[in-house]
Amino acid sequence: MKLKFSVLAIACFTFVACEQPTTKEAAKSNKAQGENSFVDSVLASLSVEEKIGQMTQLTLDMLVVGPAYVAEEPHTIDPARMDTVFNQLHVGSILNCAGHSYSREKWLDFHRSIKQYTDSSRSEIPVLYGIDAIHGVTYTDESTLFPQQIALACSWDTAMAKRMGAITAYETRASGIRWNFSPVLDIARDPRWPRFWETFGEDVLLVSEMGESIIDGYQGDEIGDDHVAACLKHFLGYSQALSGKDRTQAWIPERQLREYFLPQFEQAIDAGAMTIMINSGEMNGIPVHVNKTILTDLLRTELGFEGLVVTDWEDIKYLVSRHKVAATYKDAIEMSINAGIDMSMVPVDYDFPVLLKELVDEGRISEDRLDLSVRRILQVKYDLGLFGHEVPTVEDYPDFASDAHKATALEAAKESLVLLRNEDVLPLSRNQKLLIAGPNADDLNALNGGWTRTWQGDDASLNTPGKFGVFGQLQQEGVAVELWAGNANGLSSKAKGKDAVVLVVGEKPYTETPGDIESLDLPKDQLDLIEAAGELNTPVILIVVEGRPRTFNLPDQVDAVMLAMLPGDFGAEAISAVLFGEHNPSGRLPFTYPRYASSHATYDHKHTDLISPTFGTDAFNPLFQFGAGLSYSEYEYSNLTLSSDTLSLDDELELKVTVSNVSEISGKETVQVYVTDLVATITPSVKRLRAFQKVEIEGGENVELTFTISMSDLAFVNESLDWETEPGEFNVQINNQTASFWIK
Ligand code: GLC
Repeated sequence: MKLKFSVLAIACFTFVACEQPTTKEAAKSNKAQGENSFVDSVLASLSVEEKIGQMTQLTLDMLVVGPAYVAEEPHTIDPARMDTVFNQLHVGSILNCAGHSYSREKWLDFHRSIKQYTDSSRSEIPVLYGIDAIHGVTYTDESTLFPQQIALACSWDTAMAKRMGAITAYETRASGIRWNFSPVLDIARDPRWPRFWETFGEDVLLVSEMGESIIDGYQGDEIGDDHVAACLKHFLGYSQALSGKDRTQAWIPERQLREYFLPQFEQAIDAGAMTIMINSGEMNGIPVHVNKTILTDLLRTELGFEGLVVTDWEDIKYLVSRHKVAATYKDAIEMSINAGIDMSMVPVDYDFPVLLKELVDEGRISEDRLDLSVRRILQVKYDLGLFGHEVPTVEDYPDFASDAHKATALEAAKESLVLLRNEDVLPLSRNQKLLIAGPNADDLNALNGGWTRTWQGDDASLNTPGKFGVFGQLQQEGVAVELWAGNANGLSSKAKGKDAVVLVVGEKPYTETPGDIESLDLPKDQLDLIEAAGELNTPVILIVVEGRPRTFNLPDQVDAVMLAMLPGDFGAEAISAVLFGEHNPSGRLPFTYPRYASSHATYDHKHTDLISPTFGTDAFNPLFQFGAGLSYSEYEYSNLTLSSDTLSLDDELELKVTVSNVSEISGKETVQVYVTDLVATITPSVKRLRAFQKVEIEGGENVELTFTISMSDLAFVNESLDWETEPGEFNVQINNQTASFWIK
């Protein structure tokens, strides 16, 4: 995504200072009158050039010595660039690191340097700094690294999502940063997509609930010293490109867009999310960055979003160089600002502010239009407490990477693991002799995935000290392990004399376009390893460490299968705890795991997806089902009861079900409520997830759970693009319990 940096002439701005109170004076005099009058007074004090600067976001590369993407080490502030960026261009936002993570001390030094310039500027408006702290504050050394979103979704634990959000926010603030480009609310409908793992999976309800929960963690009930502004991304329709490749064209009819891609954003906006980042791609032939129907009519007028809208990386320039919808950068700026963009993530040139000023001088963009965006930007800065703030010290955040934070990340990693097969081989005992084999047998970077200390997450030299891959972790724990990183040919001889083989396959870290693939199949050497493992006489535990469900032939002889969808820094400890029975796995798939590379349907497919070549109805045949996952406990379901079997559209349906843990092992079960609309004007899905609860059940205990479903929960988007629940017959399914009811 990030191309070479080109140095361009910088027009020096000159303007007559307005006789207005400075920011600090305005803050004191207007505080009691409420935030709007303060923001309005700051806005009124700004020149056109200063307003344009607030709409400009540059990457840290533009402040340090050396070309963007290859800054000189150690990364050092360049006073000449700081003068250009802040004194001449009045830039109001900076993002990212300059290629890799830094210590907290170094981050705080950067912020102090930036603040010196903004404090001495005429407007004194503080910089809004943004970062991708998507599984902990990844660009700060030794921060607590959590599971990636897809792994968090495997936990189905909304309370854990909130806890992860809160700890991430704390450690982001400890780094001096108040804006987190997270969560991704795109829905993962195509397993090929390289950002599949950055999502909360394929289901609208699960994405919506996990999204709102992590935002609650980030932003709190109100922004305090430990909170950050969330950033919903990538609005809208980014995750289902026709090719399955990043930022390529998507055809998404508005009915499907509203039913599957929009609800999770709407729920997050209603929950108070402060900012939104826009989809880099095009939808139905129109790049979203110039789609006024999406950015203004839908987002502002219909959904009522009042926060800040920022582009994704360089996406205004890409309207010229990639999408070819604008002949010049200046035209592209005019199109995107007029469509509804507030802030441009430029982020590696100085042209945006210069060209935007020309557009204002030529009357192609009005100052009133600038005011609309600048007011939103200033409001976010105000709400984040940036006006008059002090850069924190290391001592201000003593819980950074604390044992308590690490314990939470370990707990999240354990809950993210999904056990999908166990033919009486797990748990193992710690005195067994194990062969740990496969390309991910000892790879911490594979467990973390992209956006980890570097953009692609592939620099092991920056890994958290004392964290290991699977083999290294088991060695640390004193287990008798031997490592085999070779190919299939040597597996059999290496397995001789071992009690079990742990074969760890999957993907190496990646994100965005570098993660595009030509086939969903795992690479051939891994397919061969899995095949060879299936021929061993030794018990085999297959662990797949990956960001998306890569396909492979799974031999019946493989005794156990565990999925580790990027569990983070504590992934190896979590895997060990499950292998040896110290943690009872509770993960459930938040997506459908395809059996074949070129044959995929999501769990909420249509009835025609069931029709097989022999005209049977068994065509939907995934390797593992959405919601699947095993436990060391054994649960039985009974006594599903409905408050009524005939309801009106205004009624609520109350469901009760009993879940019994018939084993002696306490565990957590995710109870999932599916509803089928038997006949509808829009072809009905075979089922839709309509509620879920994760509950802990002691061994030998029963719990009765109650779910309340409103009839509007069962609605679909109709041909008129309205949500509609139609009267008719419905089925409810909770595990093996079913019942039906009518809406009259
Ligand atoms: C990237 C990603 C986006 C990220 C942004 C800033 O291109 O698409 O998710 O937040 O740039 O790093």
